[in-house]
Amino acid sequence: MDDAKDLDAADAVSAFGAQSPRMVALSVLERCLLHALPPEVALARLAVNVGAEIDADELAGIAASLHTNDICQRAWLAQVAGMLADRPQILDAIRATAASVCHQSGSDEAPAKIIARLASGFDRASAVSPAASVQLSSLGEEEKLAAATYEIVDWLEQNGLTGGDKDILDIGCGIGRFESALHSKVGRVVGTDISPNMIAIARRRCAGIANVEFHRTTGFDLAAFDDAIFDCVLAVDSFPYLVLAGVAERHFLEVARVLKPEGLTAILNYSYRGSLALDRSDIMRLVGACGIQLIVDGETPFSRWDGTAFLLRRFSGT
Ligand SMILES: C[S@@+](CC[C@H](N)C(=O)[O-])C[C@H]1O[C@@H](n2cnc3c(N)ncnc32)[C@H](O)[C@@H]1O
Repeated sequence: MDDAKDLDAADAVSAFGAQSPRMVALSVLERCLLHALPPEVALARLAVNVGAEIDADELAGIAASLHTNDICQRAWLAQVAGMLADRPQILDAIRATAASVCHQSGSDEAPAKIIARLASGFDRASAVSPAASVQLSSLGEEEKLAAATYEIVDWLEQNGLTGGDKDILDIGCGIGRFESALHSKVGRVVGTDISPNMIAIARRRCAGIANVEFHRTTGFDLAAFDDAIFDCVLAVDSFPYLVLAGVAERHFLEVARVLKPEGLTAILNYSYRGSLALDRSDIMRLVGACGIQLIVDGETPFSRWDGTAFLLRRFSGT
């Protein structure tokens, strides 16, 4: 859930200290403005971080009250305020979707327990809104989700992850948006997920497409797959949940195992811990241990989504 970088309500308290909801809203807006994030991302972040005591009208007022001399920033604030005022129900839908998935774990909690909780959380989230359950900043709208998906697919194409001879594994495939967008550009796409509801939606979405498969996984590893059978591995917004459950390291080793030599892996968002430096240092340590080379190290190449991209290549012959 991309904008869960934006945390859930309980996390928000610690991330924003004891700030009032109004101050949290102002901080969120200012940070989004500073980084020139899309208005939809700002709206999703407001929904997740600002408590329900502030409704859409009030949030629209806060956005409209911010002053800036920059004409583009003024237009951006007007767009955020306009979306909140015109479609206040979006805020509730995003809040309900985000609240379905718990982004916290106890330090002594077993991975199995966390994975089970995430699976039922994503079952619930996808029942509320399939589009928002995989990307909150889609605001639950299929067209917005499709536009963001195709921007990511373009990036995958530019980086050599597509081609008629390529077999792709998609870890944490969710509702199958990448299987649906990629199937005509690759040899085969295999999606795995822990959530039965996500898999059911993905199967419906891709019904009749011959080169797409979905598997429900335990979430611990990639044991269902033989060594060196995939040309590429894709993980869009799923590694944060592997990190949360304490199975990211194991998946790194598993990715190296199932990839063919020279195979590529795209990890879009590694964690929601809020520190790019920490993500980079974890990934640097893991690539060294797995015979993998880092090609893209935490860039943010997308205009419609605030995901952070890591691109990795398995060394030949390892
Ligand atoms: C935010 S959604 C992203 C879905 C999809 N990659 C997309 O971008 O449309 C995260 C997905 O990861 C799945 N997931 C979480 N933990 C997982 C695990 N250990 N193994 C496989 N999938 C997992 C969730 O069920 C959910 O469908």
